Amino acid sequence: MHRVALISGANRGIGAAVARRLAAAGWRLALGVRRPAAVAGTDTCTVHRYDALDRDAGARWVAEAVAAHGRIDALINNAGVAPHVGLEDGDESLLDDLFDINVKAPFRVIRAALPHLKASGRGRVINLASLSGKRVLGLNVGYQMSKHAVVALTHAVRRVGWPHGIRATALCPGYVDTDLIAGKHDLTPDELIQPEDLARMVELLLDLPNSASIAELLVNGRYETML
Ligand SMILES: NC(=O)c1ccc[n+]([C@@H]2O[C@H](COP(=O)([O-])OP(=O)(O)OC[C@H]3O[C@@H](n4cnc5c(N)ncnc54)[C@H](OP(=O)(O)O)[C@@H]3O)[C@@H](O)[C@H]2O)c1
Repeated sequence: MHRVALISGANRGIGAAVARRLAAAGWRLALGVRRPAAVAGTDTCTVHRYDALDRDAGARWVAEAVAAHGRIDALINNAGVAPHVGLEDGDESLLDDLFDINVKAPFRVIRAALPHLKASGRGRVINLASLSGKRVLGLNVGYQMSKHAVVALTHAVRRVGWPHGIRATALCPGYVDTDLIAGKHDLTPDELIQPEDLARMVELLLDLPNSASIAELLVNGRYETML
């Protein structure tokens, strides 16, 4: 029996690295991306339209994935944005995008996938949160608020899903070497987390048994006290 994983934003960055890793490990995949035509599928990897700003997109993606693969064992909510909204600067209307894409869309996908994850008996949800979901260091409070909410969402999945064998993890990296942070930091290349290393962690999180669950995984490429 092949396990089936859904990954949002799998066309580039962290999501693409996770998709490559899980495909190599034998997972069946249903990728959720904004432009499916731009991503090549295979007989074991289907590609679905998923725009986080479309309220119905999550339920549609889940239904298509079940139709294609028959089951869902893992959901990786990875798609996200990080426009700057500070307390003293930045366009306040961007808060809507931050919460719609980073928080409300994963909430909806989880809702739609829960019955299938329960049926798996060892369902897994990994939400790409951030160290910005654990502490406030930079000045993008909009992003920080959204990622703190993602951590809360993850704990809600644990609360509801635990008796059904569902285990959820908030994956909380610092700066990762992707487009999202290009030009927005002063770290040296060797201080950046590589997407492939996060993908290794995702594979481990999915493989651990129900009796060895990691609620939050904090990952850093530079020294910070306690992180
Ligand atoms: N990079 C970091 O330093 C870092 C650190 C901590 C946490 N994270 C989190 O990790 C996740 C992945 O980030 P990344 O670094 O891989 O970023 P990235 O390279 O910028 O990729 C972002 C992904 O999200 C997708 N996306 C954006 N808006 C979307 C929408 N409305 N609907 C569907 N998909 C959408 C993008 O699709 P398109 O290609 O269509 O735009 C892309 O696939 C995010 O949740 C981010 O907050 C990143």
